[in-house]
Amino acid sequence: MVRMGDEKSYVADLPVKIELIKRFEDSLDPKHPERSGIPAKILGYGEIGTVLEIQKEEVKDFAFKRMPMFVSEFELRRYEAVYETYCDLLLQAGLKLPRYWGVGFVSSAGRPVFYIIQEKLDPLSIGHRAIHVLAKEEIAKLVRAVLGEFMKVWEFNQRNPDVQIAIDGQVSNWSIMGFDQQNPGLGDDIQLKYFDTSTPLYRIDGVEQLNTELFLRNSPPLLARLLGNLVLEDVVGHYYDLRGLVVDMIANFHKEGMSELVGELVEVANDFFSQEGKTLGVFPISQKEVDSFYRKDAAVWSVYLDLRKLDRFFRTKVLRKDYPYVLPPRVKRHWQFKKTV
Ligand SMILES: Nc1ncnc2c1ncn2[C@@H]1O[C@H](COP(=O)(O)OP(=O)(O)O)[C@@H](O)[C@H]1O
Ligand SMILES: [Mg+2]
Repeated sequence: MVRMGDEKSYVADLPVKIELIKRFEDSLDPKHPERSGIPAKILGYGEIGTVLEIQKEEVKDFAFKRMPMFVSEFELRRYEAVYETYCDLLLQAGLKLPRYWGVGFVSSAGRPVFYIIQEKLDPLSIGHRAIHVLAKEEIAKLVRAVLGEFMKVWEFNQRNPDVQIAIDGQVSNWSIMGFDQQNPGLGDDIQLKYFDTSTPLYRIDGVEQLNTELFLRNSPPLLARLLGNLVLEDVVGHYYDLRGLVVDMIANFHKEGMSELVGELVEVANDFFSQEGKTLGVFPISQKEVDSFYRKDAAVWSVYLDLRKLDRFFRTKVLRKDYPYVLPPRVKRHWQFKKTV
């Protein structure tokens, strides 16, 4: 991996010119990235961040994750160090990551900003796209493979009691290597790459290394205060809870409009944890748990997004300040499973 330290030591290794990223940052229109001086397309929205593709021939092979939430360069450098160690730990645990780099700087406008740069993965190879073209049995195989990756992380945690790594295991965070859309099968040896590394959660001797408050920065101030440390602890704690992550990953099939698969995937998971994953001590999960998790999760995120939009309106139209975040459009969620439960 690329060594990241002070700007000089890793700029040489960056596959793109730092000047281009700086110019991009200066010209970015966060509300309409496609209308920026150097236009960008949105590759994907996560719950927290936006992933961009900068429309320039020399960077067409890379995905850019822009993190604009730092209030000082010190904070930015701290995040950078934590990000680097996190990726290292994931590699040590045996996960595969896309090739990655990072670059942080203070923009001309005085904003400390960090860009995660990754090899651009084929969008069709990413879990939430692939499941729409895979046969039912193949989806079950994919879920089992994802559980195998979870297992690598939790076994690593068992082997290293002073370190705990967390991941966000949703299918939308994995890319299937060598996936062929024309001939969508998985074969017997499914190789996955984990790319959602922008929330580097890991604990050393029980101490969270990331300043998780950073991730409240993009929330309206009132909401951030309401969420406060209590809820934040809960949200963060979720990513360390293997069983909860499995429930979350399966609940996502509701969001993808594939509610009919949920029951079967619950069985796949329970089977996995009674066989190869036995040592992890995960109690069987039930479909009811998955369904109620989804309902709660969908409600929380849609209120959260509405509040962020309201905050953007307030900041830009009333206070006439700038608003640095790129917000996703309303998430299309599928609710049809409601009728069946
Ligand atoms: N390296 C990449 N290549 C192509 N698309 C990507 C890449 N990284 C992320 N994406 C797209 O952006 C979405 C969100 O990215 P992710 O890293 O999971 O961020 P978040 O933490 O916001 O979920 C992904 O589901 C995927 O569609
Ligand atoms: Mg993600």
